Amino acid sequence: MSIAIRPEQPGDERAIHALTEAAFRDMPYSDGDEQHVVDRLRSDGDLVLSLVATNMDEAIVGHIAFSPVTISDGTPNWYGLGPVSVIPSAQRGGIGAALIERGIADMRELGARGIVLLGDPEYYARFGFEHDPQLAYPGPPAAYFQRLVLEGKAPTGRVGYAPGFG
Ligand SMILES: CC(C)(COP(=O)(O)OP(=O)(O)OC[C@H]1O[C@@H](n2cnc3c(N)ncnc32)[C@H](O)[C@@H]1OP(=O)(O)O)[C@@H](O)C(=O)NCCC(=O)NCCS
Repeated sequence: MSIAIRPEQPGDERAIHALTEAAFRDMPYSDGDEQHVVDRLRSDGDLVLSLVATNMDEAIVGHIAFSPVTISDGTPNWYGLGPVSVIPSAQRGGIGAALIERGIADMRELGARGIVLLGDPEYYARFGFEHDPQLAYPGPPAAYFQRLVLEGKAPTGRVGYAPGFG
């Protein structure tokens, strides 16, 4: 599928909500809240970067969100990647990878020093993400919490997500 990637615009909100709901609906690790997370991040002003992938008809077929995180050692300018969603009928066609690569590049431009995420290590290793035992996010299995250093030293400590994650 040929796609274009652009920042979210006013009017995209409902399509992003529906897409996120559809993408996560059958995922065993989903708590069914991901579409609301995106809405809350937006209304809290924490949606630092929100990109959509559109098809030839300009329908939204993919989305990725980035929001600020805190790190207990005080390292600034780190962000959380996610949720990231691709419509079920178009999954495994490279749209997710295109959104992640563009998102990382845009976050670098915005001055991000690093990015964290929760996800399948086998998938995210290809973008340079790795688990670092020095950087903790309590709760999920440790290996699923990964980070990508863009600039400076690797931070250590505990990570806190934006309130929109609940
Ligand atoms: C995860 C997601 C964003 C990836 O986007 P995508 O466009 O499907 O993925 P890509 O085509 O870029 O990459 C394909 C890789 O994704 C993984 N993958 C994608 N969909 C998968 C699925 N349904 N089951 C298992 N692995 C899957 C595979 O590792 C695959 O690698 P391979 O091609 O070497 O087998 C998308 O599948 C999605 O929306 N999933 C549901 C929501 C979700 O889980 N989001 C991420 C939570 S961390």
